[in-house]
Amino acid sequence: MGLDIGTFLTVYSLVLSGSLLSLNPSYSIGNHSDDVENLLDNVGGLLGSPQGLDGTHNTFEVDGSTTRGDAYDPDGNGYALNITYFKQLYDLQKDAESPDYTLDVIIDNALDRFDQAVAYNPYFYYGPFSGLVLRSGANFFAARLWVNCTAERPDGYIDKEMLKSFYGVTGPDDNLVANPGGERIPDNWYRRPDDYSVAGVAVDLVNMASKNPRILGIGGNVNGVNTYAGINPSDIVGGVLNGAGILEGNNLICFAFQTIKFASPNSLSSIYTTIAKPLSVLFDAIDKTVLSLNCPAFTDMQYGGTDLGKYLLATYPGAAKSGHAL
Ligand SMILES: *[C@@H]1O[C@H](CO)[C@@H](O)[C@H](O)[C@H]1NC(C)=O
Ligand SMILES: *[C@@H]1O[C@H](CO)[C@@H](O)[C@H](O)[C@H]1NC(C)=O
Ligand SMILES: *[C@@H]1O[C@H](CO)[C@@H](O)[C@H](O)[C@H]1NC(C)=O
Repeated sequence: MGLDIGTFLTVYSLVLSGSLLSLNPSYSIGNHSDDVENLLDNVGGLLGSPQGLDGTHNTFEVDGSTTRGDAYDPDGNGYALNITYFKQLYDLQKDAESPDYTLDVIIDNALDRFDQAVAYNPYFYYGPFSGLVLRSGANFFAARLWVNCTAERPDGYIDKEMLKSFYGVTGPDDNLVANPGGERIPDNWYRRPDDYSVAGVAVDLVNMASKNPRILGIGGNVNGVNTYAGINPSDIVGGVLNGAGILEGNNLICFAFQTIKFASPNSLSSIYTTIAKPLSVLFDAIDKTVLSLNCPAFTDMQYGGTDLGKYLLATYPGAAKSGHAL
């Protein structure tokens, strides 16, 4: 993983899990943990205890994951591997002559999971950054970071056994079993020779959106399952990008990163008593990324005459329920 992705994700999750103010910033990758320091809580920095990544629904943790259910679907389990979903991905290459979970396969599965979640989770939400970039990027990681790269196949491949290993799944095709905690980098596995960077995610994102433009429509269910209403990024930036322009160069990822600036103040004010410091740390990280991508600056993001963050929270019950519309 490129240093740029790793650095941004670290800052973003520290800020949004509320762990930023700790003297020794760290966060739990699961549920709230007492091992994560919260030294400044009592001097008025944080409104609650720092949450682990489980507590970052619609900021870091999103709906329609590859193998996990949604926080607000009828099962209410957004963290454990659901073997039905794993099998769905697995089966896409089960009988292939030379099984390989390529980016195309991963994208097909991501689109299927999107539709499934819309039909199963009344609170489905797909945010301008958490949905468009984080959800998509996490999907891409399987095809971009988990591949075995060798001299013969420098672009790498990921076959059925490798996929099972990364997800901690064992057993034959017709009897797959999840083993929580059993997730492993496979033995004899060789990483890609170069890094997968934000620029790489940008290219893959455009590929995905070209394959299925629906993925551009950020939004969510508005009134129970199967009531998805999406809005077009072009309508948010007031004509700065026309319909085709969003897929040119780095415009799409540039747009998505900058939505954080407009949607995060609401989120941060539910986590911190004073948001100036977390906001400036987060904005610095965004500015570094935006600068490296030569992004146009979007100085205004409104929809329906309202501030973007407020509009999303008011329109989508899934965003409102979590208090976050990122
Ligand atoms: C997460 O931790 C809280 C207490 O901190 C507990 O009530 C809850 O059951 C935990 N959730 C899971 C899924 O372990
Ligand atoms: C796994 O997903 C399926 C399909 O949505 C659902 O019916 C099932 O209840 C889920 N299982 C768990 C344990 O959440
Ligand atoms: C990765 O590729 C090498 C070279 O072909 C092979 O020896 C190794 O077994 C592969 N690793 C996995 C996990 O399949």
